[in-house]
Amino acid sequence: MNLVLKVWRQKNQNEKGSFETYQAKNVSPDMSFLEMLDEVNEDLIKSSKDPIAFDHDCREGICGTCSMYINGRAHGPVKAVTTCQLHMRSFKDGETIIIEPWRAAAFPVIKDLVVDRSSFERIQQAGGFVSVNTGSVVDANAIPISKINADEAFLSAACIGCGACVAACKNASAMLFVSAKVSQYALLPQGEVERKQRVLNMVAQMDKEGFGSCTNTEACEAECPKEIKVSNIARMNREYLTAKLFS
Ligand code: SF4
Ligand code: FES
Repeated sequence: MNLVLKVWRQKNQNEKGSFETYQAKNVSPDMSFLEMLDEVNEDLIKSSKDPIAFDHDCREGICGTCSMYINGRAHGPVKAVTTCQLHMRSFKDGETIIIEPWRAAAFPVIKDLVVDRSSFERIQQAGGFVSVNTGSVVDANAIPISKINADEAFLSAACIGCGACVAACKNASAMLFVSAKVSQYALLPQGEVERKQRVLNMVAQMDKEGFGSCTNTEACEAECPKEIKVSNIARMNREYLTAKLFS
C-alpha cells in the first residue's frame, strides 16, 4: 500500500503547530499503525529530519499511551481498538490519513502527537486507591462479592486511561474516565473505607484540572477502546450526591 500522511507537527507547547505531508510507501496491510509510523520515522531519520514524536509502550492495547486522532476518530476508524492494535488493512491503498494529537486544554501538546496526560495521574492520586492491611494475604473466599458486582467492577477496571473519552467529547469532559475509576472501587468491599472521600476528592481534582462538564452526548462511550459504559457516570453522580449529603 502507498499512503499519504498529513501529520500534526508541533515543536513544543508554546509554538504553533501545523500539518506536514509525508509519503508512506510499500506499507504492508498486516502492519500495525504504529509500525507504519516507525517506518516513516526510519526514512525521516535517514534523511536527517526530525522523526514524528508519538507515545507508545505496550503495543498490545493495555497501557493507553498510543493516543492519537486518526481521520477524525480517537484511535482511528475501528471500534474498540487502540492505535497500536489498529492494522493498515483498515485503510485503502492511496488513501490520505490525517493524524492529530488529542485536543483538550487539560492535555497540552508536548511535541507533535504526544500530549501531557499527567492530569489523569493527579486525579488517580486524589482517590484512586484502597486502604490495605499489611501482613499475610487474606483468603479470597473471606470477602464475598456478588457475581454481578464482580463483573461490573471488572468491566470498569478495564479503563486504560488513554484519554480518548476526553478527546472525543466536545466539552473535553473526563467524566467517563473518572467514573470508571470511582465505580471500580465503589462496587467492591475493598473500596468501602475511602468511598465518600474518594469520589469527592477525584471530582474536585477533575474540576481543578480544567476538564469540561458532561452533557450526555455519549461520544466518550462511542470512542472508548475498552467500551466503558456511560452508566458509570450515572453511578459516579449517585456516589457524589450521597457523599455530599452524608459527609
Ligand atoms: S474511559 Fe475509555 S476512553 Fe476514557 S480513558 Fe478509560 S479507556 Fe480511555
Ligand atoms: S501502546 Fe499500550 S495501549 Fe497502545
